[in-house]
This record gives sequence, structure tokens and C-alpha cells, in this order.
Amino acid sequence: MERLEVSELNFYFGFTQILKDINFVLNSNEIISIVGPSGGGKTTLLKLCAGLLDVTEGSIKNSFGSSAFAFQDARLLPWKTVIENIMLPIIAKNDYNKAYDEACSIALRFGLEAKDFTKYPKDLSGGMKQRVNFARALITKPKLLFLDEPFSALDIGLKRELQDFVLDSSYESGTSVLFITHDLMEAIRLSDKILLLKSDPGEILKSYEITTPKNQRDDEFVFAKTKEFLDDRDVINTFEIKVR
Ligand SMILES: Nc1ncnc2c1ncn2[C@@H]1O[C@H](COP(=O)(O)OP(=O)(O)O)[C@@H](O)[C@H]1O
Ligand SMILES: [Mg+2]
Repeated sequence: MERLEVSELNFYFGFTQILKDINFVLNSNEIISIVGPSGGGKTTLLKLCAGLLDVTEGSIKNSFGSSAFAFQDARLLPWKTVIENIMLPIIAKNDYNKAYDEACSIALRFGLEAKDFTKYPKDLSGGMKQRVNFARALITKPKLLFLDEPFSALDIGLKRELQDFVLDSSYESGTSVLFITHDLMEAIRLSDKILLLKSDPGEILKSYEITTPKNQRDDEFVFAKTKEFLDDRDVINTFEIKVR
């Protein structure tokens, strides 16, 4: 079975320890969220998992057949149009027209309109850029998707919509997701498992499983679960939440 296995991982920038003894397994069809305060090492952990940084202590074994990532800043190529950006990951392996058609169809699914297809990134709103960013990540139908706070700058409506795309692609294509967020409610809505990462150094303090089916997690469920989390002293301490 495909899985991502992180074992006894330590990581340093210079002499500063950023990550300490990280252990977890992401199985096929799972969504795992890593939540924690800013500066806690979440992005560093994701980059290590995605192979964008070299592991120096411990190990990361990834047996997923394919992967893709989307970061908080959309990182689109400014000299390419919406459709050209989206088709980028599949252009080498496909005939141009086929790649173009696929990019158009996924763009429409992601709520972009035909009149936007030939626009350049400078002419797009933040929300549209994120749609392009997502469409580009999902066009390859990756088995494993790395997401680094992709929704944090978005308004609540678009956030919901893109969260639903993540859930849909996890149902439809069996995409597994390693999802980074500092939004506890977002994590509760999307994840099978939530890892709580504290900072200085980044260390997994707790792991929570959420077994309620995702299509049954309405607002009421999410609010109740969030309250349950916030009653946990470790969560309060990790986020340095002030409780009167
Ligand atoms: N390239 C780098 N060189 C040195 N320090 C870095 C580098 N990237 C990140 N850091 C530091 O590592 C720590 C964790 O950063 P990061 O992984 O971005 O945290 P998070 O994503 O949780 O906000 C921070 O203190 C940050 O300043
Ligand atoms: Mg980060």
C-alpha cells in the first residue's frame, strides 16, 4: 500500500533545531493536517516530506506513485496565461491540444470562466490565482497532495469551496493529503488525523483522530469539536491562547 512514513526526523537550520523527533504515517486515502503556531516548522516539515529539502537525521519514506504541491502564495508564471499555467505539469507528457482541453475543463470545474483563460496572473484577483494554483496541482491527479496553508488568505466562501475540492478529489481520485494549516476548524473539517506541532523546536505534542465521516461534519460538529480541542491544555499552550 502507498504511504508516507516519517521516522525519527530531526532538522536544523544552522545550529537551531527546527524539528525534533517527528514520527507519523500518512496512509493511502487519508488526509492528515498539521496544525501549530507560526514559525513552528510546519513549512519546513512539508518541504522535507515533498523532497524540497534534504533529510539529514531520521528518514522519510514516500511510496506514493505521484505527488504535487500548492503553497499559500500561488507562484504562477507571470508570462503564462491562466490555461498555460494550469497545463504546465502535463504538457511534457501530452499532446498540446489534449493538455489544453484538460486544463480548460479543470479550470471550469474550479470556477474560472472562459473569459479568464487568456488572462495573465497580474490581471487576476487573489482568489482567482488560488483557483489556478489548485487546478495546476490537481490536473495530474496526484496520489499525494502537499498543501501549505493554501486557504489562509481567502474569504470564507472561497475557502469552503476549495476545501470541498480537496475532499472531492480525495473521494474521487483517492488522493491523500498532507495539509498544513493554523486554522483548527479547517483541520477538523478536512482531516482523518490532526497532528499538533508545538514550536521551538517543532515537536508533535499530540495526535488526534477524527472518525466522524467528513460528509457529516457540519458547522455544528466543527464548532463542538473545536470547543473540545480548546478545552485541552496542550492545545491552549501550543497556540499560546489566553484563557481568562
Ligand atoms: N531557509 C531558512 N534558513 C534559516 N531558517 C529558516 C529557513 N526557513 C525557515 N527558517 C526558520 O525555521 C523556523 C520554522 O519556519 P517554518 O517552517 O516556515 O514555520 P511555519 O511554517 O510553521 O510558520 C522559523 O524560525 C524560521 O525562521
Ligand atoms: Mg509556513
